[in-house]
Amino acid sequence: MKKAVCYVVPVLLCLLVGVVAGSLQTESLSEWYPTLTKAPLSPPAIVFPIAWTLLYICMGLSLGRVLIDGDKRFVTLWFLQLAVNFLWSIFFFYLRSPLAGLVDIVVLDLLVVLYVWGVRRQTPSAAWLFVPYLAWILFATYLNAYIYIKNPIEKEISVVLTMEDPMSSTKNQQTMTHTMPQLPYAMEALSPKMSRETLEYHYGKHLQTYIDNLNRLIVGTPYAAMPLDEIVCKADGAIFNNAAQTWNHTFFFDTLTPAQQAVPEKLAAALTKEFGSVEAFKEAFTQAAAGLFGSGWVWLAESPEGRLSIVAESNAGNPMTRGLKPLLAIDVWEHAYYIDCRNRRAEFIKNWWDLVDWRKVADRL
Ligand SMILES: [Fe+2]
Repeated sequence: MKKAVCYVVPVLLCLLVGVVAGSLQTESLSEWYPTLTKAPLSPPAIVFPIAWTLLYICMGLSLGRVLIDGDKRFVTLWFLQLAVNFLWSIFFFYLRSPLAGLVDIVVLDLLVVLYVWGVRRQTPSAAWLFVPYLAWILFATYLNAYIYIKNPIEKEISVVLTMEDPMSSTKNQQTMTHTMPQLPYAMEALSPKMSRETLEYHYGKHLQTYIDNLNRLIVGTPYAAMPLDEIVCKADGAIFNNAAQTWNHTFFFDTLTPAQQAVPEKLAAALTKEFGSVEAFKEAFTQAAAGLFGSGWVWLAESPEGRLSIVAESNAGNPMTRGLKPLLAIDVWEHAYYIDCRNRRAEFIKNWWDLVDWRKVADRL
């Protein structure tokens, strides 16, 4: 019975640490981590929770072996490495600092090597139970180091957020500081189709995160003094992701209105010419938005020859990168609708149609 407790308690403790660390990562995993340039050998996201669950079980069992038959001095080292392991989630995901994460994980590597080396004589099984964990954190060190090297170093810069200058950026001495666009309506004006809470998160937090990331990433790069649309067309990796998400969201929020409108004649004629009717266009657009796998954007775009098309783009995609002019966009990232519609994207699309500012869409033709 006592032996069972020696195994079960450390395993449960490890799993608890894993759950708490996972909860600290949630926001960064959806907003920040996907924007990073990652190592070529990065496994799919689903691998991480599975691997960590198995490794935490092995880690707990290893302590159980030491508690029963081993040198008790290594119990302290075991707890120390678990604490450093937990701190990595704080540094890397919560504080979003790949550098602090890298320093932490190197310390973790050393502590784990010391533990394995120390327990190997008296309780070799405790050491073997740590070998997969050691291999994994060495691999994680490579992933973390790659992210640190390939993504610009964080620098302390002041981000000026102003609500006075919609759809634009302000220039300081060396760097263009991209700013929050002003909404052309009150935060509660789109309710109940789009609630104030959704706007507080989608506009107030998600968009601001993209803008903050962009301002941080462009410092010291050729993109520092470029207008936003030029960055979208020229950049790649993390800078493209954050620039495009800034542009896309600014465009998306600017094309909403609480006042339901009829489709202007000029636009209706163009849609009818291309799709057969306005209703046929809306049906095709709805299907594209509902059918887009994962996160992304669906656009109505105009070619240089004046042809209209529906363009579905994954992640931060923007038709400007294909030489097309955006006229209308819907954001089908889950963060656009999870507060109001939970997982029901079709309901969000239906509500969104009632908020489209058709006059602005027509003006862009
Ligand atoms: Fe969004």
